[in-house]
Amino acid sequence: MKKGMTRRLFLSSGAAAGGAVALGGRGLVKAAASAAAPAQAGFIRFSVFDPRARLDSYRRAVEVMQERSRVNPNDPRGWTFQASIHGTTAQGEFFNKCEHASWWFLPWHRAYLYFFERIVREASGDRDFTLPYWDWNDSNHNSLPSAFRETNSRLFDSTRTEGVNNGEPLVGPELNISRAMAAPAFLGSATSRGFGGVPLPARRKELIERPSHDTIHVLISGNMGHPLTAGLDPIFWLHHANVDRLWDAWLASGRANPADANWRNNVVNRVRRPFVFFNERGQQVEVTTADFLPGGNRLDYSYDDLEGNSPLLLTNRDLRGALERGQRDAAGGGAVALTAQKRKTIQEKQRTVFGDARRVELTAAGNRVVLGATPVTVRAVIPENSRVRFRAALELGHEDVETPPVINLNVEDVRSTGAPGVVYRVYLNQPDANASVDPDEANYVGSVVLFQSSGHGGGHGGHDAQPGENFSFDITNIGQALRERRRLDESKLDVTFVSKGVGGRNVPRSEVSVGRISVTVER
Ligand code: C2O
Repeated sequence: MKKGMTRRLFLSSGAAAGGAVALGGRGLVKAAASAAAPAQAGFIRFSVFDPRARLDSYRRAVEVMQERSRVNPNDPRGWTFQASIHGTTAQGEFFNKCEHASWWFLPWHRAYLYFFERIVREASGDRDFTLPYWDWNDSNHNSLPSAFRETNSRLFDSTRTEGVNNGEPLVGPELNISRAMAAPAFLGSATSRGFGGVPLPARRKELIERPSHDTIHVLISGNMGHPLTAGLDPIFWLHHANVDRLWDAWLASGRANPADANWRNNVVNRVRRPFVFFNERGQQVEVTTADFLPGGNRLDYSYDDLEGNSPLLLTNRDLRGALERGQRDAAGGGAVALTAQKRKTIQEKQRTVFGDARRVELTAAGNRVVLGATPVTVRAVIPENSRVRFRAALELGHEDVETPPVINLNVEDVRSTGAPGVVYRVYLNQPDANASVDPDEANYVGSVVLFQSSGHGGGHGGHDAQPGENFSFDITNIGQALRERRRLDESKLDVTFVSKGVGGRNVPRSEVSVGRISVTVER
């Protein structure tokens, strides 16, 4: 059924795409984007592949800014100081401020780019400069732009993986943004993933951040592969301009930003904690999220195109409505009212699974496992007393249409000795999975994309003390489907990790290990 649905979505989006252009769908989105910007705003950001992108100015600015840092490392308008605001091993009042796994991930990076763009204008002498974006989600644009691959250029970074600097395309399900673009809400919850974050004090990477945003960092690797160095690579800023554009695209499709005043005004525990940056005159400035939202006094730019590729067709409101209706039909005509009898069985099963808890752990395998270049399979044995609960949870997944539980496969405390340069694809009950087969939806649950956000302190909301990163994959549907095909027994799960890099180079550049694997059910 899932396969059919995907095909159907694809066909209808293809058919409607022609219509959308003829009917002026693009005009609609454009209007929404320009309404977001104040009247005096004239800046437009272009794709790096568009001839209007001012790469010469950017190149000049990189040179000027790098020279500033050489002369005076404390020059806030210098290249390394700007990168250090994001992350660095050096100590400094204004350093290590990047917001990851935070509900300020999008606004913090937007503000960061805004002041950087102003500094580039000043440093290049090009007052009309706007930051180009690298639209890596467009399959025609998924190789590193050539200007960044010329070895003698200021835009080159020799620490990147070989494949990326050779122009190999960055491909894979990790870079598919459709799920993020289809997220109905900005904020995620215990049982659903949001577009851009979860409310503090919780910390979790939502769909626009992980996997896609993180995967670009991981596959480029080198400086880009770790938050402490990412801002040193000139492509960083173009990558983030695209993430910022995707936020606009998501909003233009009729979605909304959080209404929460703490999010808008940067409040933590009743204390206002503005973002701190430096402007093009080298002066310290404090801003909040609200300054950068539609109508905010700092939002002085828009993007030339919010729907330049197929997943972004979802930004067309009518088209999206049609797709969602199609999805409901495909699922069997929408929610059917539960009979009293059914409701009773469901409640019994809920008691079996959860008792009084909201979250239960069915199994855990706690030996650290090293992931290398060849596939590794870990068997998670489900203890006798958990099997009944596992079965009931799988059944509830489709019987309880009102409050379905979520079964998660958790890959915990993943550590690495450096930027790995590869992602690890995770398969359920497919121990023969390997890097040359394309992930199929029957067994592929997601990817471990290790862009370490932990292990460096000083961040805005405080970072985890834990040295590793945690990944949770929703296996409710895959588990049910495997069970229906008799490819799942409730006593064990085989979890296979497959290394995948760029251009067939699948050997990790560092040692990656997994601390713990568990299966939980949440409601
Ligand atoms: Cu703060 Cu893409 O990193």
